Amino acid sequence: MVIHQTPVGAIVEDGPPRLLSDHATAFTWAHLQVRWGDRVAEPGCGTGVLSLFCALAGAASVVGTDIDEEALAAARQNALANRLADRVAFRQGSLLEPVPGPLDLVVALLPHKPAPRPFDHRYFGGFDGTDLLRAVIEQAAARLVPGGRLVLYLNSIAHPRRVLAEFDRAFTVRKLAEKRRSFTVEEFDRLTPGMFAHLEARRAAGEAEFEEDADGLYFTARLYEGTRR
Ligand SMILES: C[S@@+](CC[C@H](N)C(=O)[O-])C[C@H]1O[C@@H](n2cnc3c(N)ncnc32)[C@H](O)[C@@H]1O
Repeated sequence: MVIHQTPVGAIVEDGPPRLLSDHATAFTWAHLQVRWGDRVAEPGCGTGVLSLFCALAGAASVVGTDIDEEALAAARQNALANRLADRVAFRQGSLLEPVPGPLDLVVALLPHKPAPRPFDHRYFGGFDGTDLLRAVIEQAAARLVPGGRLVLYLNSIAHPRRVLAEFDRAFTVRKLAEKRRSFTVEEFDRLTPGMFAHLEARRAAGEAEFEEDADGLYFTARLYEGTRR
């Protein structure tokens, strides 16, 4: 069990170790503003920590979705353990399909690692990494009220120009925060063989963005907020 100290209070997280939230989740809650009474959805909720954060921060209702039954079971248990089960529901299904809306806020920290072939559904985002991100932008645009917000976590290895072009179509987009994320060739090739060579090819094609300096390889993790026009 992990106890997270967040800007709005402590959140208890339990679940299978491979499903627990990570540095990207903490980065997101550190910069996420929830408005009192927001109707919130979190597609790809995992163990539900960001959904629980939204409820603690004053959301009127929160729906988290995931395709992974084990993650959903942990999320429901975490809602009970944090005494938030009356304001947070977890539903099985893809992205925002189980959430008809209307919504005021969508928070999306989704799999978006580019790879030459499908691998672990917690990480794989398609050939250039953008499949789920572009889909969720379109779904959120259809469910958010005017003035509603989509907060999107985006690593620079996942063709950021393509994602932002899609995001700009129906949203006014601003960057909330960014940070450097170091990585190694071995880290990515452990996820799926040949992933780093694939990333180099995507960079050569003008899609993935990452660099190397004296400290090693790194890309940039960014959090964006789009306001529905
Ligand atoms: C990187 S984890 C992030 C979990 C959570 N948002 C967090 O910050 O801790 C991505 C999650 O997306 C889920 N996922 C993958 N494809 C999905 C889809 N099409 N619809 C809903 N969830 C999906 C995975 O099962 C996994 O739980």
